Amino acid sequence: MAEVKITKLTKKFGNTVVVQDFDLTIKNSEFVVFVGPSGCGKSTTLRMVAGLEEITSGDIVIDGKLVNNVHPKSRDIAMVFQSYALYPHMNVFDNISFGLRAQKLGKPEIEKRTNEAAAILGLEELLARRPGELSGGQKQRVAMGRAIVRKPKVFLFDEPLSNLDAKLRHKMRAEMKLLHQQVQTTTIYVTHDQVEAMTLADRIVIMCNGRIEQVGTPDEVYKTPKTQFVAGFIGSPAMNFVTGIVEAAGRGTALKTDDGSVIAMPKCLAKVGKRVTVGFRPEHMQLASTTTKPKSAISVSVTPSVIEPMGHETIVTCNAPFGEITSRITEEVKLRVGRELQFHVASDKLHFFDDKTGKRME
Ligand SMILES: Nc1ncnc2c1ncn2[C@@H]1O[C@H](COP(=O)(O)OP(=O)(O)OP(=O)(O)O)[C@@H](O)[C@H]1O
Ligand SMILES: [Mg+2]
Repeated sequence: MAEVKITKLTKKFGNTVVVQDFDLTIKNSEFVVFVGPSGCGKSTTLRMVAGLEEITSGDIVIDGKLVNNVHPKSRDIAMVFQSYALYPHMNVFDNISFGLRAQKLGKPEIEKRTNEAAAILGLEELLARRPGELSGGQKQRVAMGRAIVRKPKVFLFDEPLSNLDAKLRHKMRAEMKLLHQQVQTTTIYVTHDQVEAMTLADRIVIMCNGRIEQVGTPDEVYKTPKTQFVAGFIGSPAMNFVTGIVEAAGRGTALKTDDGSVIAMPKCLAKVGKRVTVGFRPEHMQLASTTTKPKSAISVSVTPSVIEPMGHETIVTCNAPFGEITSRITEEVKLRVGRELQFHVASDKLHFFDDKTGKRME
């Protein structure tokens, strides 16, 4: 277990900057998830922590020790990748204990640690099998076993579940969480899946173009995204955005969108004349036909174009003059493509972003 302190970390490949001024302190025992779109620099950052990628500038300190020039083997970390690269000719026991034998630990110690790891991961019955005789999830657990037995200071995971099908992914995600509760090892976990990030992380680091957009608990990044990018990235289906100019309307204000629609704004953080983007989540849209309008709310009329029943809820993609809007309906109501719907969104569920900078307006 250890604290990992990353300061002003930057990586260039030739003239291209792929990670810039990355600043983050990961606390002892913390589970931190790096999330962001493909190519934003997640793996590169993780590989620099592992020592597999040279640093252009900045510092990495693990457990109080500057490791910039320390060999990966001496950093006391264990990394699990997307491809688990098990040795096909070795059985599970030998695959898990491989690193320990390389460290020349005594046989009783190797057996003790391997059996412990196998027990944590539920692999006791499978120790004599070879990788070819295992399911995807079992192989994944063996790869994790190999990391656990080394009792490293830090676990680094790079999309460890992305080779698994949806159901198994869900199961392994829960196991991953349970594992961390048991071993409490400081963990950095990379994924581009925001659901994985939300469900696993103590804190999420959202990256975009090599930079950190926001660091926060799952609750913080969901409720108060600092940028429009974070707002659109976290949450599924994604947040709806409507952009327009703030106008005076009676005693209050309204948003005039590019197509000329006018949406009355009960509460608006922006001055008249400013161009803003208003965001609201599909799950915060209340059907006007089944709910009373909250005291302070906006109303939008939209026309469903695609209706996707999911059993416990229905995802409805709608057209509106000001753009496409997605809503999430949990009530039992009859919906029809083309039949207009009216929604309310309570003002405390609205997010305002400066259209120029993409920053949240507080
Ligand atoms: N060895 C390399 N030489 C040049 N460019 C590289 C190299 N490795 C990575 N890059 C570039 O650095 C950027 C960040 O890559 P990285 O692998 O860190 O992204 P990522 O966030 O992990 O993406 P993904 O979700 O697709 O795995 C990308 O634009 C990539 O093309
Ligand atoms: Mg990657």
